Amino acid sequence: MDKKIKTNTLLEQKVDSLLAQMTLDEKIGQMTQVRHFDDITLEDIKAKYIGSVIHTQGPLPGNDATEWQDKFIDMQEQALDTRLGIPLLFGVDAVHGQNTYEGATIFPHNIGLGASRNADLVEKIATITAIESKATGFNWVFSPCVAIPFNEKWGRVYEAFSEITEITTELTKASVRGHQGLTEPFTVMATAKHFIGDGATDFGVEGGNTTLSLEEVQQRLLPPYQAAIEAGVGSVMASFNKLDGISMHAHKAMITDLLKESLHFDGIVVSDWKAYSRFGETEIINAGIDVVMAVDGDLGMFQEGVRNAVLNGVIPQSRIDDAVRRILRQKFRVGLFDNPFPDKKLIKKIGIKKHREVARQAVRESLVLLKNDNDTLPLRKASKIVVVGEFGDNTGLQSGGWTVNWQGTTENYKDATSILEGIRKFSTQEVIYDHDGSANPDNVDVAVIVVGETPYAEFFGDIGGEMNKYQLTLSDAHQKLIGHYVEKGIKVVVVLISGRPLVVTKQIEQSNAFVAAWLPGSEGDGIAEALFGEYDFKGKLPHSWPKSEADYNGKYGPNFWDSGIKPLYPIGYGLNYK
Ligand code: GLC
Repeated sequence: MDKKIKTNTLLEQKVDSLLAQMTLDEKIGQMTQVRHFDDITLEDIKAKYIGSVIHTQGPLPGNDATEWQDKFIDMQEQALDTRLGIPLLFGVDAVHGQNTYEGATIFPHNIGLGASRNADLVEKIATITAIESKATGFNWVFSPCVAIPFNEKWGRVYEAFSEITEITTELTKASVRGHQGLTEPFTVMATAKHFIGDGATDFGVEGGNTTLSLEEVQQRLLPPYQAAIEAGVGSVMASFNKLDGISMHAHKAMITDLLKESLHFDGIVVSDWKAYSRFGETEIINAGIDVVMAVDGDLGMFQEGVRNAVLNGVIPQSRIDDAVRRILRQKFRVGLFDNPFPDKKLIKKIGIKKHREVARQAVRESLVLLKNDNDTLPLRKASKIVVVGEFGDNTGLQSGGWTVNWQGTTENYKDATSILEGIRKFSTQEVIYDHDGSANPDNVDVAVIVVGETPYAEFFGDIGGEMNKYQLTLSDAHQKLIGHYVEKGIKVVVVLISGRPLVVTKQIEQSNAFVAAWLPGSEGDGIAEALFGEYDFKGKLPHSWPKSEADYNGKYGPNFWDSGIKPLYPIGYGLNYK
């Protein structure tokens, strides 16, 4: 039994005695989360009794980890200088490593970890992410996303592990344990998100409407949250989607009655980005939200609104006390009252070789070999190889969204290695690089053609959504790249970089070998280790693989639980060299 489930009476006494001393304004301050820049002055951290700070998109806290830590130390000193000296939590979207910090170890996104099915590896990755997040001043990560994606049109499929509930449940538990350490105080506080139904909206619309029945929600979507709670997860983030027409941020029955009461979740329910401005602060707090994320310029108005709502009885005092009790409980658990400051000694651990070796293992184990005719793979070291396509030598393009920037980057970033660099390490011949199919190299034995999706995050990646920048098939340019080499009669190995399964039936037929590489992150050379047979392929599909765009005519894509749409490859499919 995890220690967390048993009530820690000493902890509860500390929480209650501190809560009893707090004024209404101090309580509202604890529920307020601000961005670390322009939203807030150092004086206001103290004057408004702010409880937590977030870094995500936007100006960096400094030029290096030391400056990041120093900025947060300045803010922490303000919080400690308040009447009761309640320390700040610092939250960050470290969803595949500390990906907001350039130079950190960037792991494959969760879809690749789902393909690895390796819980021990997921726990190790979470532990390293916690260390590199602490090294940059944070003690709260908004990870893992435990969604069950029903439709690959959704722009966040890659943030989740799998469409299989059991795999997601097992990897969620590993992720929470890795992030939070195996004993209290936690290394960082983890966040299971987005509660609930984020990946199951009709037609995969981010923030859309989930029309599953309650029993389907309980059967398919709830188990990862139950596992996270059993593993002691410190926070749960509410979701932007509706559940049968009711916004999840205002869904008291799900947040308070089910999650807090029935499932005994005693941590923090944090809202998603500026949800108070979409759904109203009173509605979301009464539904059970404890921390309101990213209150920026209208900080005074927000706190005034909540204060008046409490004084007028619209928000019960007991609701405020429940929220603050949960916040204090997690601050004690994460060790903030013992040591509220970051440890400068951790900075030298950012991006170290040992961390990158784990990331390279994750890259290898995430790859799914979909086709390998006539032993095209493993590549021979003496073969004449051409690597084709901009994705073949661009670490930004191989890493997906939430890398350096919210929407990722299309440039190389610090300390990452590309697929081409990895192939050059193993080949004994000169490896030719054909950036855009115009090189026309002669007497080449095999072409490794790297194609796929440019980075995206959230609704930017929705297919058919408001942005509509992405599609279920490869771009015309990428289809032409493959066709160009096939017509030359050269053996073709396609490496697909994507945040989700795509409709590539034709390209699979055209190629001699085909690898689904998902979004590998900084250690692109891990792909070469599998292509040259240094390691065998181990990855198994975490999603059913579509055969045509017609597979998406309904609310959901092809999936393993609804035989109505036969996939090209079933869940669990994946070849290897043996
Ligand atoms: C975003 C995302 C959520 C993220 C949060 C903070 O809107 O939905 O996953 O943790 O805001 O960036």
